[in-house]
Amino acid sequence: MPLGGEEVATDPAQVARLWEANAPAWIALSRAGWDLYRDHLNTPAFLRILPPVGGLRGLDIGCGEATNSRTVAARGARITALDVAPSFLAAAAATEAADPRGIRFVRGSALALPFPDGTFDFATSFMCLMDVPHPDRALTEAARILRPGGFLQFSILHPSYTGPGRRVLRDAEGTAYAIELREATLPDGTVERWRFSSAPPALRDAYPPFQVPRFDRSLAWWLNAVACTGLHLEAAEEPIAEPELAARVPTIADTRIAPLFLILRARKPLR
Ligand SMILES: C[S@@+](CC[C@H](N)C(=O)[O-])C[C@H]1O[C@@H](n2cnc3c(N)ncnc32)[C@H](O)[C@@H]1O
Repeated sequence: MPLGGEEVATDPAQVARLWEANAPAWIALSRAGWDLYRDHLNTPAFLRILPPVGGLRGLDIGCGEATNSRTVAARGARITALDVAPSFLAAAAATEAADPRGIRFVRGSALALPFPDGTFDFATSFMCLMDVPHPDRALTEAARILRPGGFLQFSILHPSYTGPGRRVLRDAEGTAYAIELREATLPDGTVERWRFSSAPPALRDAYPPFQVPRFDRSLAWWLNAVACTGLHLEAAEEPIAEPELAARVPTIADTRIAPLFLILRARKPLR
């Protein structure tokens, strides 16, 4: 089994098993509110630039426990939410059963979306596409399942500022004053281990650290890869914590030095 602390995971099935292993901790900690960067920065910025989706058919790729799928569904979209890891889908389906938002859940991979060409009016992907082996294939697949005129909006770790070993340097008061970056990329599939650092230790340390294989690509690579799908780039966002937010949620204040996320939206031409 590839869960014994291996250093590299490039095979898609191996990567999927790591995400399945990450699921219990991710679900518990994110639902307890400890994915501070997601909840306070990434998702709000993503939703700010998301076009109206009322009445549209949308696919959320790499839905996880589906907090974000549910938010998009609440805007009136008919959402199909897909993930490779069954435990994420089970948690998401349980929430849906208790409080339905009309979401359909599908187990599948971003690398081979189980839908015919042109099925969806739009696709979202929150913080998934940098986690898949061959992210160019995932982009091609996302473009394929869009109807002409449909759009893909996705967030990823910022390709320029989140190299392996990104370390926030803090002064004696704990205020972030610099970001240390060591390398731009690591070999594909290098497994990074980390935790939601702000969570209370008793909760955080009840789980093993996340094991996340990295598939680092440069900013130019991502822009070229989107262009190669034939989608037209129409919006980009690099969310940073505004001063009031940084003061309220100090953990995410480092994004004022260098953004942690990149959000792109690209549209399929009508012809
Ligand atoms: C960082 S989590 C983000 C989850 C969710 N979108 C959110 O914003 O909370 C990445 C998600 O991508 C999923 N994932 C990883 N590789 C995948 C693949 N090849 N196809 C579909 N989902 C994948 C993982 O199982 C995990 O749920």
